[in-house]
Amino acid sequence: MKDSLQILKFSVLICVVCSTLLALASSGLKERQERNRQLNIKKNILKVVQLYSSEMDLTTEELEALYTENIRGTVIDKEGNEVKDVSPNDAKALKERGFHPIYTRVKDGQPVAYVLYVEGKGLWSTIKGYLALGEDAGTVSGVAFFDHGETPGLGGEIEKDWFTSQWSGKMIFDGNGNLVPTQVVKGKVAQSKYAKEPDYYVDGISGATLTTNGINRFIAEDLKGYEPYLRRVRKE
Ligand SMILES: Cc1cc2nc3c(=O)[nH]c(=O)nc-3n(C[C@H](O)[C@H](O)[C@H](O)COP(=O)(O)O)c2cc1C
Repeated sequence: MKDSLQILKFSVLICVVCSTLLALASSGLKERQERNRQLNIKKNILKVVQLYSSEMDLTTEELEALYTENIRGTVIDKEGNEVKDVSPNDAKALKERGFHPIYTRVKDGQPVAYVLYVEGKGLWSTIKGYLALGEDAGTVSGVAFFDHGETPGLGGEIEKDWFTSQWSGKMIFDGNGNLVPTQVVKGKVAQSKYAKEPDYYVDGISGATLTTNGINRFIAEDLKGYEPYLRRVRKE
């Protein structure tokens, strides 16, 4: 009986020690995970405005400095007005409130690029992305898709240079000032019915039409949210 009690006490002690250690490890890791998440956001924003590439091998401090020097993050509401005191990096909370983050690349005190956050369902997963516009707030200057679970070699090609590099130079407003979100076609633009409007379309990915259909949907949807802000910037 005495032995059983000892074993029980020992087991309870082990359980308490283990759960305390696990709780401590989990809360410690949470902070680090959040730091890494924020760093990843900054890397992708810098990448899409051509200020960073993975070959640069920067320390965390150097990357933070590059970001602080060049990027101003703000938040806009549905009417395109800037919202103060809300972090642009909590994309989910922003979306729930109908707000959007804008990251402006500033050079010599002047805005030279606007980075928009886009997000939506592909085939298997939610795809996140940044779409950069040049200083006219209407010409795409870069795009990056990341944090997705699409199949490598099929939908996963969305993050490859051959696919993303095609986006640069595409126009998101037509000659009449209408919003024309960049769309991915099935196959090659040159061989499609859009061959005469290459400014608004990019080549598709063979075997990944469902992923790119998703991109087409969420790019169109998210750009609508940014439209009032972009129109204002273009007017100014
Ligand atoms: C194992 C497996 C993984 C697939 N992964 C993707 C994917 O990530 N994205 C995608 O659009 N289609 C994927 N597909 C293919 C789709 O089922 C579909 O055939 C394809 O999107 C059609 O594109 P296509 O018209 O360009 O051939 C996958 C198919 C299989 C069998």
